[in-house]
Amino acid sequence: MHNTQHTTLKTTIMTDFNIIRQFNFPAIIRFGANAVKELPAHLAANGLARPLLVTDPLVAQLPFFNQVKKDLEAKSISAEVFSGIHKNPVKSDVLNGRDAYNATQRDCIIGIGGGAAMDVARAVVLSINHHRDLFDYDDLIGGDQYVTEAVPYFITVPTTSGTGSEVGRSAIISEDDTHRKRILFHPKLIAKIVFADPLLTMDLPPFITAATGMDALTHNMEAFVAKGFHPMCDGIALEGISLINESLVAAVNKPDLASRSKMMIASLMGAVAFQKGLGVVHSLAHPLSAFLDTHHGLANAVNLPYGMQFNLEGLEDKFRKMASAMNLQQQTGEAVVRHLFEMNKQVNMPVKLSAIGVKPEHIETLSDLAFADFCHPSNPKPVSRADFKTLYTAAL
Ligand SMILES: NC(=O)c1ccc[n+]([C@@H]2O[C@H](COP(=O)([O-])OP(=O)(O)OC[C@H]3O[C@@H](n4cnc5c(N)ncnc54)[C@H](O)[C@@H]3O)[C@@H](O)[C@H]2O)c1
Ligand SMILES: [Fe+2]
Repeated sequence: MHNTQHTTLKTTIMTDFNIIRQFNFPAIIRFGANAVKELPAHLAANGLARPLLVTDPLVAQLPFFNQVKKDLEAKSISAEVFSGIHKNPVKSDVLNGRDAYNATQRDCIIGIGGGAAMDVARAVVLSINHHRDLFDYDDLIGGDQYVTEAVPYFITVPTTSGTGSEVGRSAIISEDDTHRKRILFHPKLIAKIVFADPLLTMDLPPFITAATGMDALTHNMEAFVAKGFHPMCDGIALEGISLINESLVAAVNKPDLASRSKMMIASLMGAVAFQKGLGVVHSLAHPLSAFLDTHHGLANAVNLPYGMQFNLEGLEDKFRKMASAMNLQQQTGEAVVRHLFEMNKQVNMPVKLSAIGVKPEHIETLSDLAFADFCHPSNPKPVSRADFKTLYTAAL
């Protein structure tokens, strides 16, 4: 048994060595307490003086956001704030942001906030010199071929530790009417520099900390088991899992700089790792946001143990490595799944879909949407519509 597995693995790697692959790694990252204090000097050094700060309405009211504006003003940098974005951002948010950029003659864009704010900022970056309908640029219909023009200077400042959107090259924006999530993707949309300052997350409420943290864990785990040969991403993902495992519960229940810092770097690592691909859990989660407006991280948190249970058989070696990264006594896939349920409980995340408003009559529609989702093709195992139905039913 062991020998057969060994031979299969060897053959795969031999085959892989005959293919030329491209491995991309992200922008310059300034990481650490007070990193955001470097923002004004960075703008000045690059001859930029008129940033559009793209954020959400809640972050726009927080003390640290005011401080960022003050620090910019102190360097004679005129910051215009655009915060008109929805919880699950839609196309009209992006178009309004573009209009604000043009009307106030901005010279660069800073996405500061959670994944929603940074995604809108990235989509605004695209929309400034690209004048087709926004969803013509949808990556899934080959829209990246139209991304031909220059884009404004773009900076990201994450204030949650979850999506890792700060280092990403994609923006997830929903249609206004159907709420279907569309994906805009292009290497030009990578930020020129990321200021990742864990101090900005010190007062993140426990619920958001837990939901975003479970999103980050889902990224690392799904990337680690995703199909494809990418040992660099695999290594990053395992370390990301380890960091989240040792810091999420503390970050939720008794936050300090160490736990906040570990969560911030691990969420960023998850997004680096998931360029390899995501999987069944994200496909289960996306329809919940589209259909019930569930927060993205919360939707992943509930589905993660069930999705990993689905992936377990045949992937025992990979699960053993994850169990080891999680420092579990029993290094098996079953122990990993049990640990995920336990983690959800420790950070007060629900373990059943019924607790977040899913009803039996939703399952058919959710299964259709999940099957149509763009994430599960990179899941290590094929996922059928019937599998989605079984998984939703099990999690109900
Ligand atoms: N581009 C990508 O690669 C990618 C990947 C995964 C998810 N996403 C997208 O990201 C979004 C989810 O992002 P998220 O999980 O960061 O949630 P979010 O951006 O919706 O933020 C969650 C909540 O936390 C608040 N908040 C943010 N920072 C805070 C702070 N420092 N203190 C207090 N409150 C704060 C926000 O106002 C908001 O109410 C979804 O739209 C999802 O589709 C993008
Ligand atoms: Fe995610």
